Amino acid sequence: MISSQPIEICFVCLGNICRSPLAEGVFQSLVNQEKLEDKIFIQSAGTGGWHVGSPPDPRMQETAKHKGIALTSVAQQFLPGDFKRFDWVIAMDRSNLETLEFMCSPATAKKKLRLFRSFDPQPDGKEDVPDPYYGRGDGFETVYQIIHRTCPKILDFLKTQLP
Ligand code: 4NP
Repeated sequence: MISSQPIEICFVCLGNICRSPLAEGVFQSLVNQEKLEDKIFIQSAGTGGWHVGSPPDPRMQETAKHKGIALTSVAQQFLPGDFKRFDWVIAMDRSNLETLEFMCSPATAKKKLRLFRSFDPQPDGKEDVPDPYYGRGDGFETVYQIIHRTCPKILDFLKTQLP
């Protein structure tokens, strides 16, 4: 039977105030451009709970605003039960991936869990979206560039999964 259920995807970083909110915002704008809002639902979350309820970091918001993207997420923590809801869980770095692997069975990890930069068309041998929180200001632009070039590849993939 063909399912008409939307695909649900969640981007996950550590704090859910920098990398994954940007991935959510950029991906949502691509989905809107392609009028797929009813078919693909997008969320973001953090493996840690320190910032739950907070808006994205002002530095990430500023970077996004310059690119025409408004970040509207409110930080939430990813919990083991969330693996039931989401079809795809995309970890922004290998540390996030490892934390998420501890929360689910190997079969679920194999089926649903992916590393963000495994879709990067220019990974340059790197696997992590670098955490910009404690670094220099240009880290936010680097994160944007990685996310901007990679989100279209993730959308191409999800389109192959649509009924
Ligand atoms: P994010 O960045 O994982 O991209 O949201 C961070 C935000 C906050 C912290 C670390 C990383 N923190 O330690 O509070």
